[in-house]
Amino acid sequence: MVKVAILGYGTVGSGVFEVLKKNQDMIADKMNDRIEVKYVLDLREFEGDPVQQILVHDIDTIINDPEVSIVCETMGGERPAYDFTKRALESGKSVCTSNKELVEKHGCELLKIAKAHQCSYLFEASVGGGIPIIRPLRTSLVQEDILSITGILNGTTNYILTKMETEGLAFEDVLKRAQEKGYAERNPDADILGLDACRKISILTSLAYGKNVDFQDITTVGITAISDKDFLYAKKMGATIKLFAKSVKKDKKHYAIVAPFIVKPENPLYAVKGVFNAILINGNMGGETMYYGKGAGKLATASAVVADVIDCAKHEGKHLAVEWDDEKLEISPIDGAVRRFFVRMGQTPQEQIEAVFGEVSMFADVVPGECGFVTEEMTEAAYQEKAGQFGNILSMIRIN
Ligand code: HSE
Repeated sequence: MVKVAILGYGTVGSGVFEVLKKNQDMIADKMNDRIEVKYVLDLREFEGDPVQQILVHDIDTIINDPEVSIVCETMGGERPAYDFTKRALESGKSVCTSNKELVEKHGCELLKIAKAHQCSYLFEASVGGGIPIIRPLRTSLVQEDILSITGILNGTTNYILTKMETEGLAFEDVLKRAQEKGYAERNPDADILGLDACRKISILTSLAYGKNVDFQDITTVGITAISDKDFLYAKKMGATIKLFAKSVKKDKKHYAIVAPFIVKPENPLYAVKGVFNAILINGNMGGETMYYGKGAGKLATASAVVADVIDCAKHEGKHLAVEWDDEKLEISPIDGAVRRFFVRMGQTPQEQIEAVFGEVSMFADVVPGECGFVTEEMTEAAYQEKAGQFGNILSMIRIN
């Protein structure tokens, strides 16, 4: 019998409890052993819920119980999750988590502690919710030189952009609706400003290259400036707009960005709609592989945590290696990244635009009183320099 403790009985924690209960016989058959939840830690009481019988309020009960070999940290946030995780690992208990904030900030250090104490720190659920992406990166793709990772890593913003596209609505109206339906948080800043996606691409990049990425090195632009007018132009181009989290290795340099991109139907990520997430990885040998599914939600995220629990249970007493060194991975300034740009500007003659930007594809009559154009390929720095010569630029979206 493998005994597990769950820290935090919120959405994901209660989901882990549910997955382990509902699928317990099937899991036992596959494992040749049973998994039992011995404790759930939460400050609250849950009268009438079966969890009440195993509810504890003091982390010491779990840490000091040698029977507990696996801890699911589903509390979220940095503190006290960090201290509890550290203590669990130091006492030789493996920890499985969905906590992306903790993984992004302390993953490297916690992995070292796990290694030193012959236990594991696994975090499949921290990126892409229920999508298997961490395990493929550390096992199936370990032989690949990863050339690029492009992800739709945030369900809230993908839902908002999809609704703007299909219903022609303004950003604020869709956000309000998303909040009413519970798809967007009451304080949606981390999602709409791109910070959530930034943490996730930071974790994926660290794992892809085995070195530590500081998420603050990643240029991050959210979707708050995207308007229904941008979608009119995108439609004219036969394209859509997606918030991409990208990490690219080119000429031995690494670039990373989170920003809205104009995306054509040829890109497999074009078809990812609503709250779904997907990650497209390009390896130098196997080429492209894509991973798709629910990026959030109780059971999807909990299912990924339980996959890690089973992995730890099957390897009790062993450390499951995740390569993530504390050496810093240098992310090059985005200035050197080369791409095309879609620009909206107040009504301006094409010759005047081309005198600065070179040849452009014009969209003159999509929105009254303005024009839009797509540039040829140029560096981000060149774009900034040219755009600085105009005082009437309304918006810019990168082209994938
Ligand atoms: N706020 C996140 C999203 C939840 O919308 O994708 C999952 O990390």
